[in-house]
Amino acid sequence: MNNEKKHKLLVLTGGGDCPGLNAVIRGIAKRARREKDWEVYGSIEAFNGVFRDPVEIVKLSRRVVGGIHVRGGTILKTTNKGNPVNFPVLQPDGTYKHVDRTQELVDKIHALGFEAVINIGGDGSQRISQALHKRGLNIIGVPKTIDNDLSATDLTFGFQTAVQIATDCFDKLVTTAESHHRVMIMEVMGRDAGWIALHTAIAGGAEVCIIPEIPYDVTKIVNRIHARYKNGRGFVNIVISEGAKPKDGTVTSSAGERGSEHVRLGGVAYQLSKQLKDAGCTAEIRETVLGHIQRGGSPIAFDRVLASLFGVHAFELVLKKQFGRMVAYKNNDITSVTLEEATKAPSFVNKDSHLVKAAKGLGISFGD
Ligand code: F6P
Repeated sequence: MNNEKKHKLLVLTGGGDCPGLNAVIRGIAKRARREKDWEVYGSIEAFNGVFRDPVEIVKLSRRVVGGIHVRGGTILKTTNKGNPVNFPVLQPDGTYKHVDRTQELVDKIHALGFEAVINIGGDGSQRISQALHKRGLNIIGVPKTIDNDLSATDLTFGFQTAVQIATDCFDKLVTTAESHHRVMIMEVMGRDAGWIALHTAIAGGAEVCIIPEIPYDVTKIVNRIHARYKNGRGFVNIVISEGAKPKDGTVTSSAGERGSEHVRLGGVAYQLSKQLKDAGCTAEIRETVLGHIQRGGSPIAFDRVLASLFGVHAFELVLKKQFGRMVAYKNNDITSVTLEEATKAPSFVNKDSHLVKAAKGLGISFGD
């Protein structure tokens, strides 16, 4: 029996799930196994597993992580309702009071014997990492989001899978649009960034692509639609990002669930459909909101690779004690940035970028 004292690492996934999370977890655990003196554990449901009494923490043994890189979701579960900086505590009257539990969390992680933490999550999660690092926690961030909206990394895993799913759905809508002479509006995720919509529109061959970064003029879209119809025949496929807004309007959203920090986007496809009809569009219109389909299922090979590289690199940062950093993919290299840099600025589509210019070159209208 090996009685040597082991170093203990805690891993968790926070925020919305994303294809590739399990590949990161496996990458960390497999790389750690090569160092004989490390043990890796996972906190269930972000930091909630640490807060719970008794704690919900599982050992990430060879058996637990074996083969998980092909699976969607996260074996550690996740939540966007457990931010320790602004922890929602339910009050007797049904409202929430938000309290800072960061010091309590850091103390508990230390008391449990963990020397380091790897937090896999989006911008919100990395802001939490930064706050915990300031409280003295040895923490490394790994970026994840299907939205691809972090400027510190050229790509986040999950994004390419979301684009592939959206493109597969788009292809199906094209054949039915063509058969019925219809306008099909397909709404994709992305929050305030139009990356998923833009890539899907180029990959699928959309006529119109509407993104949050370029507010649309509905009459321009109607003109583009009518130009594609002759004697009532024709078809148009539109991709719209959930955060899109008209030039003189606002984003379609609803309040988040109780305890959640986010407003919920969604439904902009129906808004656009009504606006097109009100502006005189004569073609028949149908709407499809893809929703969480884009986040589910197995990651494509690219994302499995990126996520695995992130996992290995994150553990190597732990070994080198380079805490307070987030893993990043920059200029075709796996590197890292400080958590401060990581959370500084979101990444939005630039309307003068080569991607938008190429899309326009392909005849895609942005309604601008
Ligand atoms: O940030 C990822 C994302 O999928 C966004 O694209 C979307 O607006 C949001 O999460 C949905 O969040 P939820 O799963 O909480 O509904």
